Amino acid sequence: MNFYGNVNKVLYGGDYNPEQWPKEIWKEDMRLFTLAGIDVLTINVFSWAALQPSEDEYNFSVLDEIIETISVAEMKICLATATATHPAWMARRYPEILRVNADGSKRKFGDRENSCPNSGIYRMYAGRLARKLAERYGKLENIIAWHISNEFSGYCYCDNCQNAFRQWLKKRYKTLETLNAAWNTSFWGHTYHDWEDIVSPSFLGGEWTGHQHRISGSCQIQSIDYRRFYSDSLLDCYLVEVRELREITPQIPVTTNLMGTYWDTDYFKWGKHMDFIAWDNYPWPDCPYTRISMNHALMRGCGNGKPFSLMEQTPSVTNWQPYNSLKRPGIMRLWSYQALAHGSDTVMFFQMRRSRGCCEKFHGAVIDHCGNENTRVFREVAALGEELKKLGDAFLDSRIVSQTAVLYDWDNWWATSISAGPTIDMNYPEEVYRYYDALAKQNYSVDIIGVDTALDNYKILYAPLLYMVKPGYAKKLKRFVNNGGILLTTYFSGMTDERDLVTQDGYPGELRELCGIWVEETDALLPDQKNGFVIKDGELAGTWKAEMLCDIIHPEGAEVIALYESDFYAGTPALCRNNFGKGQVWYFGARPQQELLDRVTALICGGQEIKPVFPVTEGIEAVCRIKDGKEFVFVLNHNKNDMKITISEASRDIITNKKFDADECFLLPAAGVLILVKN
Ligand code: GLA
Ligand code: ZN
Repeated sequence: MNFYGNVNKVLYGGDYNPEQWPKEIWKEDMRLFTLAGIDVLTINVFSWAALQPSEDEYNFSVLDEIIETISVAEMKICLATATATHPAWMARRYPEILRVNADGSKRKFGDRENSCPNSGIYRMYAGRLARKLAERYGKLENIIAWHISNEFSGYCYCDNCQNAFRQWLKKRYKTLETLNAAWNTSFWGHTYHDWEDIVSPSFLGGEWTGHQHRISGSCQIQSIDYRRFYSDSLLDCYLVEVRELREITPQIPVTTNLMGTYWDTDYFKWGKHMDFIAWDNYPWPDCPYTRISMNHALMRGCGNGKPFSLMEQTPSVTNWQPYNSLKRPGIMRLWSYQALAHGSDTVMFFQMRRSRGCCEKFHGAVIDHCGNENTRVFREVAALGEELKKLGDAFLDSRIVSQTAVLYDWDNWWATSISAGPTIDMNYPEEVYRYYDALAKQNYSVDIIGVDTALDNYKILYAPLLYMVKPGYAKKLKRFVNNGGILLTTYFSGMTDERDLVTQDGYPGELRELCGIWVEETDALLPDQKNGFVIKDGELAGTWKAEMLCDIIHPEGAEVIALYESDFYAGTPALCRNNFGKGQVWYFGARPQQELLDRVTALICGGQEIKPVFPVTEGIEAVCRIKDGKEFVFVLNHNKNDMKITISEASRDIITNKKFDADECFLLPAAGVLILVKN
């Protein structure tokens, strides 16, 4: 299900909070939005207190008027269910909806996205409000989606959560005996004889702040399970509203806004329950473009083929980064097209009009405090609005087809981060990013996938830091490689099973046969310490830096490609390649210098006859969307300067209608964008 039945262009708009403004302003807002080509508004995100002023009283009159105003202006609505901030009276009356911090302190009213997701009272009232909204507004034709709550996140350590955790554990482990075995509780005397003895791991018991503010704990699987449980709790809470909405308005898609590589929530699980994926993109000012694109690819991957929407970005500036630089002229446009390139069918902002008070008053908006259209930001927004109108539905609902994929797995993030040893430099998302970057910056079309995603359509899979191997996954990888796939994996992989219990079969455990190696020990390098990959001959010849972790490897059938340069393991294997069935497995014993990874990537892709979607030029990103066999190649200049590019095939840019001959050179301006279709 998606919103295309109702839409014939890229939706353009964003979060609008008219309840913060007198009604006279609303009319002016509609004029300005129309001027800017805006056609969708997300409303009602934080209106619960207004909609339900007391326990038995609901009042929709202001929302009625807001919806009427927007509808008269012929705009579409993404209607939020307003459950992201519980009303103050509810917090006073029912303290159970307030969360408890990890240090045991009880929260008071204030802030947002902080209701206890396991509170029956909260769930009951949230579900009821969603239902009332569906009953009241569900028949309106201009509602294109339900936006449930806002950025589900955070943890709670209250008794309700603890009870729910015990129930979750009972469902997972069935008996205490199984749980004790899975949690290895005989370590430090933690054996449980009663489910009631199990507590939520927190700073009051079981966890402490480790190096670099990471969570450390004595029973790490308990901490991992708490993360799994908590992502599920938030998801269950989301589903309470989904059920109410689907019952009354099965025709309106439901979604909520996700946040990219976000620690709290396993979005691969969430994606299964969303009609389309929506996410909020707030890169830091000098964020590498491939790091932004990685988030797009991850979010798209969590939808596994579902439509995908950029729900929020700032038109100019954020308020919550340490240094809130303005987006330079052209960057909002460039990053909007980047989202479209990666599959989004919307370009949406937070926020439409800049608040006067409270903490988001200095957050960028389409309409600034001066309240008129005579600003740089407004002009840029309006210019993009004009372009999007002209583009119509050209590439709407098209898909990205990739032969290469990178694995992302929240369990592996939690496990490697909570792990005590071997190094605190193991930062899962940033580690995965290195491997994604190698593919993306060479313009290979690349997906990010989860452990449940089918591998049949891929020729190459990068699965770095595959520390935890879940049941059946090694088999899946074996089938993939056996059928001709190329797998690349790394240091500290195949270490544990899903219980975080270390393999007894020699590292990398279940991956040992596949990789054709045995890892005996793993050395952690100090921050300024380096080793090297020494490669004697062939296209990878040279000495390349080896960083962070060095596995000491014994080949068991694998071919040795590189040897360590120094230390007591100098001259032993650092990079291996194993033939397995019709395919191959590459194993990096240490984190490679990026250039080596880039070269290996080019070699592997070349070997699999995978071509970049566009010739590679530094800082030029290219992504291809395909609709009914028609290709749309987005070419984006992320450099600060104009770049000469060569357009290999005769084509036309659908933004300007400019035609190019085959092999034509073109000076793409800084922050410039082309969307090329073949002539
Ligand atoms: C998030 C929220 C918005 C707003 C923006 C500010 O994405 O969903 O309500 O606070 O951040 O960047
Ligand atoms: Zn709680």
